[in-house]
Amino acid sequence: PNSVVDIKLRINGVEHAVKIEPRVTLLDVLRERLNLTGSKKGCDHGQCGACTVLIDGRRVNSCLTFAIMHTDAKITTIEGLAQGDNLHPMQAAFVARDAFQCGYCTPGQICSAVGLVNEGHAKSDADIRELMSGNICRCGAYPNIVDAVRDVLEGKKDAA
Ligand code: FES
Ligand code: FES
Repeated sequence: PNSVVDIKLRINGVEHAVKIEPRVTLLDVLRERLNLTGSKKGCDHGQCGACTVLIDGRRVNSCLTFAIMHTDAKITTIEGLAQGDNLHPMQAAFVARDAFQCGYCTPGQICSAVGLVNEGHAKSDADIRELMSGNICRCGAYPNIVDAVRDVLEGKKDAA
């Protein structure tokens, strides 16, 4: 029999107690145990970015990390970005720029883009493309995604 452990995860400001096997990924806990299905399972191998979430503000492929490693962290998924009816600025920018088609990659793109802004390294469109290259979009919405991320970066500059 596989051993099961009791852990607590703080996700989108709410503490969740779950019993899991230590080898369960964070993505599987989110989707299969907590019904937080906004984070997508594209490849389950770190290749597509559809599962990207924020852990203490840093973007992480949740398919590549074990849930048990994050019991002390603040985890944010796409479901946690909006404040009530107010979209997060990155969500609003994706809507304004039509930065999706089928939408499958979009939760991961948006979480990754929020992480990119937090990192503070992107200065140009080329930087945005490079720093978003871990997030694959099969629909090819890349130009609009770059526009959306640039809008948020420039908005931050204007606000500073
Ligand atoms: Fe995690 Fe593809 S599902 S990177
Ligand atoms: Fe369809 Fe990106 S919008 S995969």
